[in-house]
Amino acid sequence: MREKIEADGGDRRRRAVLCGVGGYLPPTVVTNDELAVRLDTSDEWIRSRTGIRTRHVVEPGVATSDLAVPAGAEALRSAGVDLGGHRPVDMVIVATSTPDHHCPATAPAVASRLGLPAVPAFDVAAVCSGFVYGLALADGVIASGMAERVLLIGADTFSTILDSTDRGTAAVFGDGAGAVVLRAGEADEPGALHTVELGSDGALADLITIRAGGSRHPGRDEVIDQADLWFAMRGQAVYRHAVTRMADAARAAMARVGWAPGDVDRFVGHQANIRILDTVGAELGVPAERVYTNVSEVGNTVAASIPLALTDAYNAGELRAGDRVVLSAFGGGATWGAAALTWPDLKN
Ligand code: COA
Repeated sequence: MREKIEADGGDRRRRAVLCGVGGYLPPTVVTNDELAVRLDTSDEWIRSRTGIRTRHVVEPGVATSDLAVPAGAEALRSAGVDLGGHRPVDMVIVATSTPDHHCPATAPAVASRLGLPAVPAFDVAAVCSGFVYGLALADGVIASGMAERVLLIGADTFSTILDSTDRGTAAVFGDGAGAVVLRAGEADEPGALHTVELGSDGALADLITIRAGGSRHPGRDEVIDQADLWFAMRGQAVYRHAVTRMADAARAAMARVGWAPGDVDRFVGHQANIRILDTVGAELGVPAERVYTNVSEVGNTVAASIPLALTDAYNAGELRAGDRVVLSAFGGGATWGAAALTWPDLKN
């Protein structure tokens, strides 16, 4: 066990410090009423069960990297990174489970299109927990001295893998990308990432899955049910595990940094469903007005969800320098994770 970390001083260890945020949503918006034209559902059902009113979706031919690039560019601008300078960033991580291709990873293409040639770049696949997993990696490479600055992007286009006849998933997911820049700094700076807590349980792999199309069932030498090529989710079971794991992970992060519920200025959870967010906030004892949500406008954008929510909250003036922020996510795998950080003083 690591020792408890004093978030506000004392600990001078080198830390990852958040220094830029950005987001991008594809322009096409689909309302609940538009979904109800082709599916047996209604605006009332979707709003009352999920809190979602609209979601953004890509047009045919638009891929995950096409969202990741503008989100990454905005985060680099927000961080004031000089793309013409020597090694503007030392690593690009793209959290996604809808890569442009099964092979190769999407991150090298994103890095190249951002004007970051030769930089180490790779994908992280932890579905809705991907951004928090990426934070842990960025923290590690910065703390070890391997990197001074890391660009971390969460990007997904779930509309490309959804079964268009499945009302249980079509209502929930949306496309988008969010990004942050982390730089080397110190524990007592605004922006410092104090801790990241991660976990997984592979026995729950069937909660959220695409059964075929991977190496288990490649579909070359066997007959594949077409439905197995689409995303499938056991919604009720996911709901229950998400509440438990997001609350437990957030509690572990708060305990690690010594924050009581009243110390948390903002809880920014994975934007899966308004009822999940409200329940997790209540279980943590964080007052409801400190639970940030943008799920009604964007739906569940998977790995993009938390960085998009951070970007939206910051742009709306709902995150201020010095705010104590707790993040928490649950996703396919099953995977989960939480982080505690102090919000930075962003200039632009
Ligand atoms: N419109 C109308 N009815 C719907 C529907 C929709 N969009 N989606 C599902 N239903 C129906 C089901 O078909 C089922 O009908 P049946 O009883 O005739 O079989 C009924 O509603 C109940 O289904 P159930 O899955 O139990 O509904 P639910 O109340 O659990 O709500 C979710 C479904 C998906 C909204 C909910 O389970 C959920 O939000 N789960 C978490 C999803 C999530 O956040 N995933 C990502 C986490 S990382």
